Amino acid sequence: MPLSKALKNYQSRIENVLSEQLKLLNVNDEQLLAAMRYSSTNGGKRIRPFLVYEVGQMLGASLNDLDAPAAAIELIHCYSLIHDDLPSMDDDDLRRGRPTCHKAFDEATAILAGDSIQSLSFDIISSKHYQAVPSKKVVQMIQVLAQSAGYAGMCGGQAMDLNATDCDISLAKLEQIHQLKTGALISAAVHLGYLCSPIDNPEIVNALKIYSNNIGLAFQVQDDILDIIGSTAELGKPQGSDINAAKSTYPALLGLEGAKQKAHLLIDEALHALSTLPYNTAILRDFAHYIIERKF
Ligand code: IPE
Ligand code: IPE
Ligand code: MG
Ligand code: MG
Ligand code: MG
Repeated sequence: MPLSKALKNYQSRIENVLSEQLKLLNVNDEQLLAAMRYSSTNGGKRIRPFLVYEVGQMLGASLNDLDAPAAAIELIHCYSLIHDDLPSMDDDDLRRGRPTCHKAFDEATAILAGDSIQSLSFDIISSKHYQAVPSKKVVQMIQVLAQSAGYAGMCGGQAMDLNATDCDISLAKLEQIHQLKTGALISAAVHLGYLCSPIDNPEIVNALKIYSNNIGLAFQVQDDILDIIGSTAELGKPQGSDINAAKSTYPALLGLEGAKQKAHLLIDEALHALSTLPYNTAILRDFAHYIIERKF
């Protein structure tokens, strides 16, 4: 199956899973629920669920079991986007081709929608009746989700990103920021797919970690590049946002060509790790190329 078809299949699957999960919620506050729906069933590439599904299926997990971690990681990501766009953070008005959550609703609702989506993520992953995942592995999945989302992962990286605005930082520091704010959730997606499967093998998990760390960092390097060479229409978010805010980015530190070279090196590393796996990794290989070839 070509990558484009796999991406489409998993996109429509996760879209359904998320809609169904939101339908299960009581309508306590109509506006909050509308904001949660607005920011989680609004398109997006869904690359984190893709990784959960693709890695999990490759290793023998069932699609049904994978629905929960796929939804959970995407919801953490959607919440991170709502908060990332807030006036006190990146102060952006456009996301996934529509007004950002705080523009479509109001700031308090956007903050609470992010909070509620985050809690829903943990609810989904812990409440699921898994067919073939033992409780010990479920606890490990919850740990991976918590650690990648919080201080040791995305939130920590977001704080460092804000502190690195309008000032010069070292390349090592920038790499750490990008690994935390973006790489952590991408690595978690791969790890969740692994934990949902029957495989328990340190060599496999190690190769997957090298793969995911490298594509995770490359994903943010490409995001920085697209902020310069992309178009607002294609990106569905404001081109030039980083430059306007004087963000520390790979192109800012290395120049556009240097950033592109860095992204290629990271993908080479990821592909090397992948080649050591005794599975059919064709789609994951194509996905690594897609990360740095994508236009949005
Ligand atoms: C954007 O993520 C924010 C980053 C972590 C770079 P995506 O590029 O995955 O955004 P969506 O989900 O497709 O909108
Ligand atoms: C976002 O990085 C990382 C997150 C944790 C959301 P950016 O601030 O570059 O993401 P975009 O460009 O707004 O999507
Ligand atoms: Mg940001
Ligand atoms: Mg941003
Ligand atoms: Mg960006």
